[in-house]
Amino acid sequence: MPKLTAPEPEPTGVDAAVQHPYGAVSGPKRVRTRHFQNAKAQGIPITGLTSYDMLTAQIFDAAGIDFLLVGDSAGNNVFGYETTLPVTVDELIPLTRAVSRAVTRAFVVADMPFGSYESGADQALSTAVRFMKEAQAHAVKLEGGQRSHKQIRRIVSAGIPVMGHVGFTPQSEHGLGGHIIQGRGDAAETLIADALAVQDAGAFAVVLEMVPASVAALVTERLSIPTIGVGAGPSVDGQLLVWTDFAGMTSGRVPKFVRQYADVRSVLTDAVQRFTADVASGAYPATEHSYE
Ligand code: KIV
Repeated sequence: MPKLTAPEPEPTGVDAAVQHPYGAVSGPKRVRTRHFQNAKAQGIPITGLTSYDMLTAQIFDAAGIDFLLVGDSAGNNVFGYETTLPVTVDELIPLTRAVSRAVTRAFVVADMPFGSYESGADQALSTAVRFMKEAQAHAVKLEGGQRSHKQIRRIVSAGIPVMGHVGFTPQSEHGLGGHIIQGRGDAAETLIADALAVQDAGAFAVVLEMVPASVAALVTERLSIPTIGVGAGPSVDGQLLVWTDFAGMTSGRVPKFVRQYADVRSVLTDAVQRFTADVASGAYPATEHSYE
């Protein structure tokens, strides 16, 4: 198991001149969409994590993360569904609100869940407005390239920044036939067309999930907006991980592209075991934990 050590602070993406030591984040007071664009122009990697609650959002923000995605992966990681498909807008709004209220610097992106935008541009705009108004998100994310062009364009034209998402799109996992790498062989052309469609519709960035590194590099070269990789290799403009995978909270296998930076599950398991043993033996509470 990996050891629980904090990684060394590293330069983060949105401001070339600034390092972000823990607890003393400097750089842009608030990350904005223009900082994503600047980062791509300057070749500085952007960093993102998912977050679904106030405490992790505070920690990740203070440590210098550039953006937080309140992903529909909350379906798996908060609500215990097997896939992201059942999670609803009403379930994600309170989580997004908690994250938005916790950050002082990071850019907060709300994920639009399955069923909340596919019917058309009007439905997509109504959902995006709910995330901006009721949850104080800074942007929304939705899945799909060419098929989501109309929706992205309408949301952007209302003044709401959109992050696209192409490659493996978990909301289509049944249609795609499972967790399968996208854009291999001839499918690379479709992937590039999808990413270009997202850019043409006005998105400020696009997530590339589970695509070959060489194809992600090609897309990154072709696009003027930043690409954010999740299992897309090193030649993209930024990296995003699901926090429960990255911190070792998840039980069982994590995808090949995940590096676990902590082993929080073991730390908590050990803490619970010591607590229950102490209560059983009478070692807790001790005199110092008791009121006179
Ligand atoms: O919901 C999520 O966490 C996501 C990322 C994996 C891109 O969409």
